[in-house]
Amino acid sequence: MPEARALTTRLRRPRATLSALAAVAAGGLIAVAFAGCGIAGPSRVDTIGKVDFDKPLAMPPLAESTVDADGTRVFALDARAGATEFEPGEPSSTWGFNGSYLGPTIVAKRGEHVRVEVTNSLEEPTTVHWHGMHLPAEMDGGPHQMVEPGGTWSPEWDIDQQATTLSYHPHPHGETEDHVAQGLAGMFLVQDDAEAALPLPREYGVDDIPVIVQDAGFSSEGEQEPNPRGYAGGLGDELIVNGPRGPYLDVRDEVVRLRLLNASTARTYAFTWSDGRAMELIGTDGGLLEASVELDHVRLSPGERAEVLLRVAPGEELELQSRMTPEIAALVGPVAATNGGTDSFDVLQVRAADQLDPAPAVPERLNSIPAFDEAEVATTRTFELNDSFEINGESMEMGRVDETVTVDTLERWVVENATSVPHSFHVHDVQFRIASIDGAAPPPELAGWKDTIFTEPETEYELLMRFEDYADPNTPYMYHCHLLWHEDQGMMGQFAVVEPGQRATMTEGTHHEH
Ligand code: C2O
Ligand code: CU
Ligand code: CU
Repeated sequence: MPEARALTTRLRRPRATLSALAAVAAGGLIAVAFAGCGIAGPSRVDTIGKVDFDKPLAMPPLAESTVDADGTRVFALDARAGATEFEPGEPSSTWGFNGSYLGPTIVAKRGEHVRVEVTNSLEEPTTVHWHGMHLPAEMDGGPHQMVEPGGTWSPEWDIDQQATTLSYHPHPHGETEDHVAQGLAGMFLVQDDAEAALPLPREYGVDDIPVIVQDAGFSSEGEQEPNPRGYAGGLGDELIVNGPRGPYLDVRDEVVRLRLLNASTARTYAFTWSDGRAMELIGTDGGLLEASVELDHVRLSPGERAEVLLRVAPGEELELQSRMTPEIAALVGPVAATNGGTDSFDVLQVRAADQLDPAPAVPERLNSIPAFDEAEVATTRTFELNDSFEINGESMEMGRVDETVTVDTLERWVVENATSVPHSFHVHDVQFRIASIDGAAPPPELAGWKDTIFTEPETEYELLMRFEDYADPNTPYMYHCHLLWHEDQGMMGQFAVVEPGQRATMTEGTHHEH
């Protein structure tokens, strides 16, 4: 086996600004502005018909667990460096949890108490954040819970939210893009009785399939290349799905469930089926929709998840693809073409067996999602995203709490993307609902539980949420742009959840400069 190449995905970049973009409205001028501020993007990518689909889809293993005397379910994650062969015989240097790339899929049930014993075997500090999880701030794995090289961290919490597809990934301030791009990411599935009672596919790796989508660049030797950068960050010209390139999935059931996770650092996807059949969306970030929705594409920005069902006929073959258009990408003019807004990818080939196991009909009612009563809103806050990687004119400061929220009260967060490009807005600890988009009701695919949203340029999103259970005046949670380069540049803020009348204290952060 040839020696693994040196790391080439290291993504250290000087602080840049997007302000040149805001000043220009005409398409032609935007391209000039990109060149002028040093973030001219890559050229158009189209891999449709060019992917071999010669490797079975790799399934991340299910995380092993033990149960303590007190009933705590205990998992272990070890962040380490290694080498991964995305093509046989062509190792790339990568990072992974308990292996060389990505991490095991953690599964836990609502009502369980879990602990994850995290070890950092890397040579630099990192963290593990439980994206989409409702849990105490100290257990959140954000930039205040750094794990030193050789160190351990053992967060524990009660699983108390709906069945859904969550994820985990590092969150060290200023280094998140790099750590995720090296391969540190995994899925965390929450199960509950309500979902278990529905006739939905749920046999992991058989008819319930994790699909973790990332983009990367490769040289002819299989080395991962530094990606060309658009406004959003590094955009790779090849896809990696759960690991090896060019995967196919053998299906033996009439209906399969795909859990799509956009684990890319910057790229937004528009997932479709190659034959034009509808995407049948059943779940979003925080749980099942009330009813399935048929869509011609599922748009996922970095950090977002979607559960879709696929019905196959015996012997058929089709591909999951991503076909982005400037309209779906919400980018105009030449900016779209240099920022992934016209890119198309073959993602995964599905091969149905000649004999398929029958699947029961999917129920019309999947979940019940009562609306928040806006009359109960206790606090309205606004969050303006600007062209300098700032939120409300501020760049992330580890020692500054930006918002103080009273536990168990209804909050309205008005997120205003005041820039000419999209961002991906994420809030820790909570699942929220979109009350309106520029004053209008959200489309059905955005009407369920969300923790991360694609925010279109010059558009205002009204979100409703309630931070329940966990007050801690000493430890903040994060909200931020989930384009990880933007987050690293400081497009992030901190909020503390406190008891009524309490004030947030801000302890000094444990941020590491290196
Ligand atoms: Cu997925 Cu604060 O992150
Ligand atoms: Cu998160
Ligand atoms: Cu952003």
